[in-house]
Amino acid sequence: MWGGRFAEGPSAIMREINASIPFDKALWRQDIAASRAHVAMLAACDIVSAGDAEAILGGLETIAAEYEKDGVPEDWDLEDIHMTTESRLAELIGAAAGRLHTARSRNDQVATDFRLWVRDAIDQTDAGLEALQHALVTQADAHAGSIMPGFTHLQTAQPVTLGHHLMAYYEMVARDRSRFHDARERMNLSPLGSAALAGTGFPIDRKMTAQALGFDGPTKNSLDAVSDRDFALDYLQAAAQCSLHLSRLAEEFVIWASQPFGFVRMADSLSTGSSIMPQKKNPDAAELVRGHSGRIVGCLTSLMVTMKGLPLAYSKDMQDDKPPVFEAANLLGLSIAAMTGMVADSTFKTERMREAAELGYATATDLADWLVRQANIPFREAHHITGAAVKLAESRGVALDELPLADLQEIDSRIDERVFEALSVEASVAARCSFGGTAPEEVRKRVAEAKASLDSA
Ligand code: ARG
Repeated sequence: MWGGRFAEGPSAIMREINASIPFDKALWRQDIAASRAHVAMLAACDIVSAGDAEAILGGLETIAAEYEKDGVPEDWDLEDIHMTTESRLAELIGAAAGRLHTARSRNDQVATDFRLWVRDAIDQTDAGLEALQHALVTQADAHAGSIMPGFTHLQTAQPVTLGHHLMAYYEMVARDRSRFHDARERMNLSPLGSAALAGTGFPIDRKMTAQALGFDGPTKNSLDAVSDRDFALDYLQAAAQCSLHLSRLAEEFVIWASQPFGFVRMADSLSTGSSIMPQKKNPDAAELVRGHSGRIVGCLTSLMVTMKGLPLAYSKDMQDDKPPVFEAANLLGLSIAAMTGMVADSTFKTERMREAAELGYATATDLADWLVRQANIPFREAHHITGAAVKLAESRGVALDELPLADLQEIDSRIDERVFEALSVEASVAARCSFGGTAPEEVRKRVAEAKASLDSA
């Protein structure tokens, strides 16, 4: 491509370090689409003849069919997907192929291709996250009234419902989707026509190519356009944050599936056995989702460090932008699919969860609240009285509602038999009917809203 200036070819190591074709061949669809839009514009603007444009478009169609059928050939001498396609075009249609690169550089070409690729990745991620939300809402609906212990510090805190717990993840995923939507909207401008860095003297129509490729318009500064990878970073940041949520959910499944908890039976299809311990059924998929989140955060870090300190405009370091994005997209897609299956196909052991909710004095706050409401005792004092009741129950090895009334009255005479109505786990969750609280009727309202919003999208 640049033989005119060089007396000798590249060394073996130069060929190897320079080649991005092993990974950027993943951009072939976007590269062909952008070349089509570019050559159609060149013809419309009378920069290439209609005949040459037709030959180029025909050649690109043939190449697309070849790539589809046989894959993209990997010739390191051709460095990347852009030169691989252009050289094949020259083989197919001869000299006219050389006109495709008029008013274009690989710098604006790769920036355009990569944006198109990330945009597609965002659309796929969004579809995956929507499916995960469906799974969460379906299980939350079925378990709006299933009682489990709620934790702080992983210590029993107050009873909650499983539906409420699952809907917490629905909210996280909703924020993830909005982050991806933001990223998509911000990145949807076309760098094509920025050429190498300074723009071009050819009378091109950047709005035409932008529109043909589904962009909202052309980018406004050619230097920025060829050296900006914010769109990839935005994607990776959204992916990293999303992967943290998936990892937290995965961790819950790991804990819930453990024998001491026994809250959930995971589907065989997402578990593995042990080669030595016959009884084992391990939550490997959940553990790998937890592990993958670390790698996805690593991808974000990798590209941030690559971009840091690069002067304008394009530098070859930027060729290293693609592997972390491709890797993160692959890991995130797998993680979303695994968690969707885990949520949809797990069996929750609601009896066991309910029993666990009764351990650990989970309704102590309800006793304190009862003292405030029924006996008009200030909350701090009620907290103290309740603490004494918990201490007594603990010393006897019984639950709060198993303490005889007489003993409770000895702690505070203002307690009467109505207190027992407040101490069951059912009463506890039903009482928490503030907006966004865990009461089954509240959870059902949130589930209905979530379903309606998923259906309307
Ligand atoms: N393979 C390069 C990349 O992926 C394409 C752009 C090369 N541009 C250049 N001026 N060498 O970034």
